[in-house]
Amino acid sequence: MVSTKSATDTNSGLQYLPKSTERDKEISPNQELLPLTAKVNNLDHLEIGGWDVTTLVQQFGSPLYILDEHTLRTACRQYRDAWKNYYPGESLVLYASKAWSCLAVCAICGSEGLGIDVVSGGELYTAVQAGISPDKIYFHGNNKSQTELILAIETGCIIVVDNWLELKTLANLTNEKKSQLQSPIKIMLRFTPGIECHTHEYIRTGHLDSKFGFDPNQLNDVFTFLTEQPLLSLIGLHAHIGSQIFEVQPHQDLANVMVDAMAKAMAYNLPIKEINVGGGLGIRYTESDDPPSIEAWIQIISKAMVDACTARQLPLPKLLCEPGRSIIGPACVTAYTVGSEKQIPEIRTYISVDGGMSDNPRPITYESLYRVVVANKLSASLTETVTIAGKHCESGDVLVKNAMLPVTQPGDCLVVMGTGAYNYSMASNYNRLPRPAAVLVGNNEVNLIIQRETYEDLLRQDTLPTRIVIVEDSI
Ligand code: LLP
Repeated sequence: MVSTKSATDTNSGLQYLPKSTERDKEISPNQELLPLTAKVNNLDHLEIGGWDVTTLVQQFGSPLYILDEHTLRTACRQYRDAWKNYYPGESLVLYASKAWSCLAVCAICGSEGLGIDVVSGGELYTAVQAGISPDKIYFHGNNKSQTELILAIETGCIIVVDNWLELKTLANLTNEKKSQLQSPIKIMLRFTPGIECHTHEYIRTGHLDSKFGFDPNQLNDVFTFLTEQPLLSLIGLHAHIGSQIFEVQPHQDLANVMVDAMAKAMAYNLPIKEINVGGGLGIRYTESDDPPSIEAWIQIISKAMVDACTARQLPLPKLLCEPGRSIIGPACVTAYTVGSEKQIPEIRTYISVDGGMSDNPRPITYESLYRVVVANKLSASLTETVTIAGKHCESGDVLVKNAMLPVTQPGDCLVVMGTGAYNYSMASNYNRLPRPAAVLVGNNEVNLIIQRETYEDLLRQDTLPTRIVIVEDSI
């Protein structure tokens, strides 16, 4: 028998299961703690995508990223369909691949009709190798190298120009390559919209004191410059306010700011066709997080954009957004194996797991909060308050402080939820830990999408100068 969450399950891991697995079309993945397919099976184990998490760990080892294809595809479709339902003009959703750039994730997003936002030559290469058409790849970044710009031009993706150096470099490069260019290269302009939002200081980008984008006061000069560049075709404007945002007001305000900038560009005879409002929709990491649904977010932005254009009697642009976290974040969990325990009477009990800040650097970087369950004791009462520590030589290497868990033993399988975004993509080899494997569950299959690194992988880029020989007793 497979059951889902019920009203009596509030003091066990069952409380974290999605509201219902029958009506998952209405569920916005970013409002759930676990992937939409999460269930408890008759062994009292957590199942994701029809697979017992403990079996996956036995087969693939731990730590293990477990990515649920259904949840990922649902988020992609909800974004795509909401634009279609609420915005009368053309639209496109880009997946912000900085959240997790790998072949499988890019290819799945691409197969749902999404384009990809990339911020480096490496992410661009990944998107291209995943089969994404270059005209659906948008290249961001505040300090793209000349090599990256040349790669972008050769690939034929759209370049989101961030600053004067980049703009002038592109003008020079296109002039040098004039004879090889079939048509002008397509660019967008990123500017800082001067909009504040309430999120962590490190992930706010829309306020004026930000390293990203042109200052709005520079726009007139930039537009003048562009009128003299026949090889650079300005197709649109871009702004991004920040990440993990729960309010909708900042994006409503953004629509007005962007349409004003569009009107300004049009006064220079630069026909802006696209507006990209960035990403930023938050997800539920803990019960107290209350983000709007994907549909509500899109509906509000669509209305704000239509109102802003109508008020200024401007045609509706093609509308783009580029969510990362809300697409991939809720679709993945990380499974660990419980190891040592340290009880400090009256102070704290530490339970250590076999990963930590190298596979999830968010708690130590942003003090991010996560929820955790014991996957092999899902309905057991939560009687213990413990701190889940990683295995790194660093006191701050704590994944979850004061987690409520049942009694645990070494070997138990612990699952941290909501780890799809900015976990693998920010993972490191600190303390020379091999980066974990990732599996994709869905379609009645398990697919290994990223192999676990080996010790040989860790040494792959190392070289030992030949004159340095290790001789015993040489000191
Ligand atoms: N577009 C641009 C230009 C961005 O800079 C970002 C995120 C996004 C889109 C996607 O935002 P999202 O929908 O994922 O919120 N490492 C941090 C998050 C950094 C976000 C960077 N930019 C974290 O772990 O919270």
